[in-house]
Amino acid sequence: MKPLAVVILISGRGSNMRSIVEAQDPLVDVRAVISNRADAAGLLYAQQAGIHTEVLSHQYYDSREAFDEALQQVIDKHRPDAVVLAGFMRILTPQFVQHYHGRLLNIHPSLLPAFKGLHTHRRALEAGCQEHGASVHFVTEDLDGGPVIAQAKIPVLPDDTEQSLAARVLVEEHRLYPQVLHQFATGAFQLVDGQVQHCTVN
Ligand code: GRF
Repeated sequence: MKPLAVVILISGRGSNMRSIVEAQDPLVDVRAVISNRADAAGLLYAQQAGIHTEVLSHQYYDSREAFDEALQQVIDKHRPDAVVLAGFMRILTPQFVQHYHGRLLNIHPSLLPAFKGLHTHRRALEAGCQEHGASVHFVTEDLDGGPVIAQAKIPVLPDDTEQSLAARVLVEEHRLYPQVLHQFATGAFQLVDGQVQHCTVN
């Protein structure tokens, strides 16, 4: 089976990117890690792991469209089968999202469709949720609203704080994202007519 060529986009810590790299899945070929911030801590890890890294700073572009066009060109040099958002803190233009239709994935720290956007752990606690978790989804123009591929659920504990909950969800994220990419590489699911179609492999 041909490995899935992957480009990972980060903006900061990069711990999800790291979990994907550390999984050393022969079916997941991380071709490049690209950051929109030069100070993203994850870049150093990727460089040390021998992965090609690039910084494309959004502040040097006049518009969101101009930045996304440039980003697309940088990404496409690597001919990815999947573009993986891992803490990439940018809203993407419809043109960019359409270009990667069916191969643009994101991880979000909530059980979508609950708690789209920021501060998901605090909001889950405030809402009194019994369960919380993380979701991997296809990215569409609807922010954090694309079809969900897989989720990891954990119980919310009585003495949980925003920090403790975030830490336990992050452990799940690090398990979930490499698993989902492995499944994508095997063709276990795909985006069809705006929905995730899971295929049974005999
Ligand atoms: C993660 O919680 C992820 O779900 C969200 O942003 C955070 C990124 O963390 N999209 P890291 O940069 O992967 O450590």
